[in-house]
Amino acid sequence: MLHIDLDKTPKHSPYYLQILEQIRTLIILGRLLPGKRLPPSRQLAKELGVARRTVVSAYEELCEQGYCTSKVGCGTTVSQIPELIQKDKNDNTYGFPKWLLTDTNYTCHSGDWDTDKICFIPSLSHVKYLPMKKMRQAINQTIIQSIPDVLGHYARNNGDPELIQALCQQVLPTRGIQAMPSQILITNGSQHSSSILSMLISPCGGTISYGVPGYLAIPQNFIMRGMTGVACPVDSEGILLTEAAYASRIHYVMPEHHFPQGMTLSPERRSALLQLAEEHDALIIEDDYDSEFYYERHPLPALKDGDLGGRVIYLGTFSKVLFNSLRLGYIVAHPEIIRRLVDIRWQLDGGTSLILQRWIAQLIISGAVERHLRRMRIRYRKRRDLIALYLQELFPEWSWQLPRGGMQFWIELPEGQSAETILDLAAERGVGLWSGANFREPNACEPNVTAENHHLILGYGAIDEFEIHTAFDRLRDLQQHI
Ligand SMILES: Cc1ncc(COP(=O)(O)O)c(C=O)c1O
Repeated sequence: MLHIDLDKTPKHSPYYLQILEQIRTLIILGRLLPGKRLPPSRQLAKELGVARRTVVSAYEELCEQGYCTSKVGCGTTVSQIPELIQKDKNDNTYGFPKWLLTDTNYTCHSGDWDTDKICFIPSLSHVKYLPMKKMRQAINQTIIQSIPDVLGHYARNNGDPELIQALCQQVLPTRGIQAMPSQILITNGSQHSSSILSMLISPCGGTISYGVPGYLAIPQNFIMRGMTGVACPVDSEGILLTEAAYASRIHYVMPEHHFPQGMTLSPERRSALLQLAEEHDALIIEDDYDSEFYYERHPLPALKDGDLGGRVIYLGTFSKVLFNSLRLGYIVAHPEIIRRLVDIRWQLDGGTSLILQRWIAQLIISGAVERHLRRMRIRYRKRRDLIALYLQELFPEWSWQLPRGGMQFWIELPEGQSAETILDLAAERGVGLWSGANFREPNACEPNVTAENHHLILGYGAIDEFEIHTAFDRLRDLQQHI
């Protein structure tokens, strides 16, 4: 017997369509095999309580679509249908084009932390202390004052002139950068900036060098579009370019705080890098993602500041300054590079939301961003110091440097201790920690680097002091189990 459920509620779709679709699905799923005879139309109509003509129409349509055949005297039978159509719908390759089956191999770190735990998430800023009142006023002003100026138009391809001016006059000078508006492109954050850059640069081929452990999601963009990656070690003076990296077309660096270890590129290596780029006609991508957060001394000026040859492409972001999900950043580069990026940008997505740009421009101009930064520096410093005290007390054999800036501790475990074990033990106690292996992904970037498991990362951007106390209380007995 054929099992068909008819929806007879007032808004039902035509009965003949429902019968047709359900029989077709049974055929595709292989539950009605080729040669199987469908029940006589009169019988099915009676069972379903519909007119015989309704069932006949469904059968005729099934024959029309090739799922059934009908012969006088033999009734309607299921046809031999192509194998592909018969595939099990639970098979996740069903309907997926064969030519799309290549694996992307990208790693996705987005939002994979467990909200039930107290998490020391690296590189995430705290949203609790955002200047909400100022933010509300600024967004209201943007919306009220700007109709139809803002709402009625696309943003200019390179970005909103008000935001670009605020960056040139108020933000970039704090990093020692004097830039003209023609040197700036507004983007949706540094990850997006790197994606746009890779669309321009990767088709030219060549290699990109980067430090490992490091923030691999940016070089990955270039590698996935055809460049070859050259991983380089990182020591106490920052990234150390190996000989294999000398002739790279692109050097990806984080001069102020190499992520996640936090070391600053030494002045000697800075000059050497600029000189190398000049000699090899190369470009340097400077990822300046969190230098606004410093606790001991002012950060060194950006590498871009000493870039007389125009070799440095500077990436700035509001992710740490304000909040990560804001998705607003900027590129500062040679005007000829910006001109090309602007074309790509328009093709790619038509630009960054103009409301968002105006909103943040207002917050910068009013001084709200700078005030927020001043307050957050104090808060982050307190958290850093609190964690340092707990680490000294509870895990004296772990080695680490007090971060001079940024938002995370990089901890080296002694011989015999494994990050994975510690992560598991902490997770059992409701505390989320990160392993250094997350920033060394052999198959994503560098085949010769093995995943190491003796480093931990403790981020303190998005964790409160109260949570730090609770987390370390829960970790008090950890030492006995590792
Ligand atoms: C070192 C580093 N660079 C770049 C990014 C990406 O920043 P954005 O949020 O602006 O895309 C991050 C994000 O956490 C980061 O940690």
